[in-house]
Amino acid sequence: MKKPAKTVTLTDNSTGKQIELPVVTGSLGAPAIDIGRLYRDFGYLSYDPSFASTASCRSTITFIDGDKGQLLYRGHPIEKLARENSFTEVTYLLLYGELPEAHQRQRFTAQLRRHSMINEGLKGFFRAFYHDAHPMASMVGVVGAMSAYYHDVTDIRNPEHREIAAHRLIAKLPTIAAGCHKRAVGEPFVYPDNSLSYCGNLLHMMFSVPCEDYVVEPVAEEALDMIFTLHADHEQNASTSTVRLAGSSGANPFACIASGITALWGRAHGGANEAVLEMLDEIGTVSNIPRYLERARDRDDPFRLMGFGHRVYRNHDPRARIIRTMCHKVLERLGDINDPAFELALRLEEIALQEDYFIERKLYPNVDFYSGLIYRALGIPRNMFTVMFAVARTVGWVAQWQEMMDDPQQRIGRPRQIYVGAKSR
Ligand code: CMC
Repeated sequence: MKKPAKTVTLTDNSTGKQIELPVVTGSLGAPAIDIGRLYRDFGYLSYDPSFASTASCRSTITFIDGDKGQLLYRGHPIEKLARENSFTEVTYLLLYGELPEAHQRQRFTAQLRRHSMINEGLKGFFRAFYHDAHPMASMVGVVGAMSAYYHDVTDIRNPEHREIAAHRLIAKLPTIAAGCHKRAVGEPFVYPDNSLSYCGNLLHMMFSVPCEDYVVEPVAEEALDMIFTLHADHEQNASTSTVRLAGSSGANPFACIASGITALWGRAHGGANEAVLEMLDEIGTVSNIPRYLERARDRDDPFRLMGFGHRVYRNHDPRARIIRTMCHKVLERLGDINDPAFELALRLEEIALQEDYFIERKLYPNVDFYSGLIYRALGIPRNMFTVMFAVARTVGWVAQWQEMMDDPQQRIGRPRQIYVGAKSR
């Protein structure tokens, strides 16, 4: 076997035994020590409980440079994609590796449109859920149930099946998201209108009613499309890792995406957008900001500044900058420019970024700090914010799942543990 270009040697100080481990380098980012042989040849496990220093796979999809505050999809800067490309084009890029040519975009759009309806039987699930269930709870149930309706494409070794399942998931998630909303507000379900764009259609299915005409507001469609691009993928975050782990056992794609939705739900992850507005409500006025920042600094207080901080970014989250600009635009066009919550958020950011606590820990606003304010301006209820995130992130989950299925090194994911329980009883 060819010797790797670079190695790292570990020494066990108690026995003097050594092991030479290969270093793996990617095209960008920090090198990694390949510890695959560590236990077999050296008798040690590695311990990294929240995976702060662990690369779990090789990937060509998304790259984050946390120190620079840079995010790339397939090598394209997020700023450029958000400015120049539609969400459907970005979806194609994430799935297939290249931005589509005109004919590819046309064919892909037609594919997604063809799959936009859901099986009528699935609607029974929405009705079965309690009327005031959280829409994320309904979504996870319905997406999980998709495997019972679309099992004709669950042969995961068959690339054609995988592609159809991928298209179905991406195409049907807006219909399911809108269904969750309609169930919650007690209005009739609205069928997709395939003459509309992906995000225009989602707005139509959420807000139109059979007794009135509904016209999609262009700025709402534009803002949603851009937010979806920003949310589409973010390398090996908690929900994506969950999808990969579920998929590594050979589970079908609908089951895997349902597992991703559950992981996204928490407040430390996709649930943060809902939590930010709750926090802004609680803070209430600019004069209360110092008191809440004091609470955020207090280790004994569980309060954290929601929408602030990130495991990987130690600089501005580039998505937050783009979204803040869009927030100005949406509020201006929709006539809510004096939204007190937006004013409060701007002041909170300004004041927090001057404090040593946030400077030393390199805590900056993340993508979710402003996304909820835009959603609210578009009339999207608070409990739907994380559902919107899930629709967009489905693209990343599906792309990452596809990549994993094609990876010759893929085996079932199976972390080990440090057992600290009773020895014998
Ligand atoms: N408010 C106050 N202090 C914070 C915050 C915050 N939002 N985030 C991190 N810290 C402190 C933390 O207490 C710790 O301080 P110390 O070193 O004194 O113990 C230090 O900063 C490092 O934080 P950490 O908890 O080790 O960081 P992490 O990488 O484990 O957590 C995070 C990342 C995003 C979960 C966390 O920053 C957080 O809870 N933020 C609020 C929730 C949020 O906005 N989540 C959305 C993330 S972006 C969208 C997405 O990916 O879904």
